[in-house]
Amino acid sequence: MTPIDLAEVPAATASTPAATAEPCTIIIFGASGDLTKRKLLPALYHLRQANLLPKDFAIVGVARRPLGNEFAADMREGIVEFGDAESSDPLLEEFVDHISYYALNFDDPASYAGLKTELDRIDKERNIGGNRLFYLATAPEFFTGIVENLGAQGMAHPEKGIAGVVIEKPFGHDLDSARELNHQVNAVFHESQVFRIDHYLGKETVQNLLVFRFANGIFEPVWNRNFIDHVQITVAETLGVEGRGPFYEKAGALRDVVQNHMMELLALVALEPPASFEAESVRREKLKVWQAIPPIPILNTVRGQYGPGIVNGQHVIGYRDEERVNPESGTETFAALKLNIENWRWAGVPFYLRAGKRMKKRATEISIQFKQPPLLIFNRMQSDGPCGDIQPNLLTIRIQPDEGIALRFGAKVPTTPQMNVCPVNMDFDYESAFGKSRANGYERLLLDAMLGDQTLFSHRDGVETTWALYTPVLQAWAAKKPEVFPNYFAGSWGPECAEHLLELSGHRWRNDLGRKG
Ligand code: BG6
Repeated sequence: MTPIDLAEVPAATASTPAATAEPCTIIIFGASGDLTKRKLLPALYHLRQANLLPKDFAIVGVARRPLGNEFAADMREGIVEFGDAESSDPLLEEFVDHISYYALNFDDPASYAGLKTELDRIDKERNIGGNRLFYLATAPEFFTGIVENLGAQGMAHPEKGIAGVVIEKPFGHDLDSARELNHQVNAVFHESQVFRIDHYLGKETVQNLLVFRFANGIFEPVWNRNFIDHVQITVAETLGVEGRGPFYEKAGALRDVVQNHMMELLALVALEPPASFEAESVRREKLKVWQAIPPIPILNTVRGQYGPGIVNGQHVIGYRDEERVNPESGTETFAALKLNIENWRWAGVPFYLRAGKRMKKRATEISIQFKQPPLLIFNRMQSDGPCGDIQPNLLTIRIQPDEGIALRFGAKVPTTPQMNVCPVNMDFDYESAFGKSRANGYERLLLDAMLGDQTLFSHRDGVETTWALYTPVLQAWAAKKPEVFPNYFAGSWGPECAEHLLELSGHRWRNDLGRKG
């Protein structure tokens, strides 16, 4: 198949603002962390390559370490290693020239005056006009202090230009802390200036959920409880905690992935068509989905923790042996649950969610299983046939890797005199249709934040609603330490009890994830 030439696709459409942002300084707090080097700077460089950054821009890394010029050099390396960049490209040189560094102790109010002076200087030198985007990529305990100090220096509401603040997850660790953080942030920045980032929304395959559902005529009529049997969403990672032990000990799978990334996926699968792609319309529809979810009974949840095992052919240690992890840790590295959405479209359709580290395979997938038609004219139980029993239609949306969408349906096995039905797949593959992309998802989110478009960012109400749903589960889990941790081998599909969650309804987790054939 010939890939579509993206150069021929018009850059801007009604819903994708390919506009270049206004001149802007991007100030990244916590810039010495991995995220800046691996994701943010490569993404900003990709925007520069696509001519989507303004001519006048500056990037200022802020962290505690005294780094000076080393910072720009380190970011340059990161762009080449993790981005789509040739080391010898003059454009890279020109880009790196816009990067500088400012050492600051996050909770020392006095040093913010110095930061302001430095930003004013850069502003003049580069003719930026006062627009600033503050990106908080620090540990969450610093969010409030930074926001308050920016406010105290008048940087949240400048006399010249516009200010915005991007806040990385985790946005709170339960309902109370999320509310308090919202309160503190909104005391300084107006909600229209706040961009709570969830990097899943930057993924093309996630944005495509809206296109798939609402730009095609054939799926939406069957996208409801009359035709859909159940929905499964899996976020399986082969990685462990990768040196982030202390962070993960406090987080666990439910806080780290389910409350945010998975709830975004669920909302995009389940929402009603928004009136437009304006932030308010989309966010309102997502909120309605989350609000329609009744409390999740604890019996409908399962937690797990990996022990040692083999992942991708390599022996790996168990979670409790990871660096800076409590050897008796009760933190879950796997979470699975069943929930319902009690509205007209979805009542009675179970949604199963599961997320885990050190699983057998890396795959983020959504699968929609349709109801079986009456199979009266076929021998429903074909156990003696070549393909086993007749399988229901299954729509699989591969968020990553092997990005694509597959539809399973039944086909007659050729040359046999009997009507034997075999499952076959129609498969759309992103790479063969559109070519390979090295975009990491932050491009779109950074550009949107610079443009002031909040569509792909979480609103305070959304964050609080999802925390309200999960806080009772977290509390119940905290009240009862799991007795049998670790309860799954690294390199497996998680604990056995996760299977029981589905068995009662006659369902099973799909473990044949990934592209077929
Ligand atoms: C992050 C979590 O938000 O998402 C990580 O903190 C997780 O623990 C990561 O590994 C998964 O993101 P992706 O894009 O690799 O699926």
